[in-house]
Amino acid sequence: MAPRNNPPKTALTIESELLNLDYSFQGLTAEELQAYAEKKLPKNFKQLKQQLAKGEYKNKTEGRTVSHMLNRSIHNVVKAGNGKNRFTEIVRTLRSGKWLGATGKPIQNVVNIGVGGSDLGPMMGSFALKEFADDNSLHHLNTHFVSSMDGGQLYAVLPIIDPETTLFIIASKSFGTIDTLANVNTVKEWIKPHLTEQQWLQHHVIGVSANNQAMTDFGIPPAQQISFADSVGGRFSLWSAIGLPIALTVGSNQFSKMLDGAKAMDDHFVQTDDPTQNIPTALALLGLYNREERQINNVAILPYDGRLRYLPSYMQQLDMESNGKQATHDNQPLKTPTGPIIWGGFGPNGQHAFFQHLHQGWDKFTADFIAVLHRQAPGFTTEVQTALREQQRLAVSNCLAHRKLMWEGFQSPNDPRNEYIGHHPTNLLYVDELTPHSFGALIAAYEHKVFTQGVIWGINSFDQPGVEKGKHCAVDILKTIDGHETQSFDPSTDAIIKRM
Ligand code: F6P
Repeated sequence: MAPRNNPPKTALTIESELLNLDYSFQGLTAEELQAYAEKKLPKNFKQLKQQLAKGEYKNKTEGRTVSHMLNRSIHNVVKAGNGKNRFTEIVRTLRSGKWLGATGKPIQNVVNIGVGGSDLGPMMGSFALKEFADDNSLHHLNTHFVSSMDGGQLYAVLPIIDPETTLFIIASKSFGTIDTLANVNTVKEWIKPHLTEQQWLQHHVIGVSANNQAMTDFGIPPAQQISFADSVGGRFSLWSAIGLPIALTVGSNQFSKMLDGAKAMDDHFVQTDDPTQNIPTALALLGLYNREERQINNVAILPYDGRLRYLPSYMQQLDMESNGKQATHDNQPLKTPTGPIIWGGFGPNGQHAFFQHLHQGWDKFTADFIAVLHRQAPGFTTEVQTALREQQRLAVSNCLAHRKLMWEGFQSPNDPRNEYIGHHPTNLLYVDELTPHSFGALIAAYEHKVFTQGVIWGINSFDQPGVEKGKHCAVDILKTIDGHETQSFDPSTDAIIKRM
């Protein structure tokens, strides 16, 4: 290798019980990171972290506290569900095949209807942790996720499920999101030839929401309603009852381990004062440095383990809906940019798609590589396990190679086609194994990174006022498309409406 830029002088690693961060390819020493932390972190940072941990941090604009960190134990998840043991009871009944549909057949398919935080977290977790399913499940449940307001996903799911053996989770914190209600409305039409609405509601629906009244008004029997606190933000809600599909996939014990992993990261975040030894704080500061000092406006999330393939989409909501803001929490305009654009994809496949641009294109970027060093691959023959472990090593070697090349570049003075520019700062987040524990720790680390950056920028990371206007505007356009009104918008919009 003939690097264009200097390789790091030492390996810079921060270790925690379940997750490690290597920031050697960020171009900052530990001393520089420390100095930057002193400049940027507010004096009361420790207090703010403690407030968040106790569920006392204020979401001022929405007039409530922020309580997702209180959900890091199954006990609290159950307690939030009206004090009744519905969450674990429902999980047990469904996973054991004892939940019968209206015609007496056991439920075989579960369809989670939700969007945003009521979809991305449960979908990511269910997919990532599938192999850890407790085998006390005598019965196989297929889980499907439907979020898109156009019904495109229902198109694919409805033909492969049977109304008599399918249960729908209506997952919506507000129970008022049009995307979810539109999907539910189509499902109600679909069941009509097979079940009455009452049969469907009594045997085939579970509601998960912070809005109990709306679930009752919809007709969901109380025993099939699981609530969670209004103070849990949608994008921070996979730890709450919204995580039901994860628990249905792996069982309550494994779900509980995911919460324990998040709790271990919470303790690391709250108790480690030295920012150069605190993974979420260091992630936040490194991100801030790239945003403010290097004017890099985007972060690619690049998991090198296929089980984490939904992580980039999850991270988009977690980070961009939280920190894409132009005003402080006191409603003062900001003069410097806040959260970057988050994008990415499964790293190894990205190598055959967008990495060309990353290595030789013109744009600045930073990236988080996420690697899993070992794989157990239970449930396969020894030969298949060996082959799968080889594949894991192959993936990690590619991860390390591209990360190195992205920073160091490659010199090829007489052959510009083979010149790699490099100098792209990246993180490597790695775990020894992907387990419910380490998965929980990884996601909690990112939550705390987002919180820390929000605190430094002085913004409220727990509201999302910018997503409302579009919804209102869509209502007006829909009224005109449906012919209930005859508003004129602009020549382009009007022409499409006319054509419809
Ligand atoms: O429109 C944005 C949003 O409010 C997200 O913050 C949220 O995760 C999503 O919609 C879904 O909301 P709900 O769970 O209330 O249906």
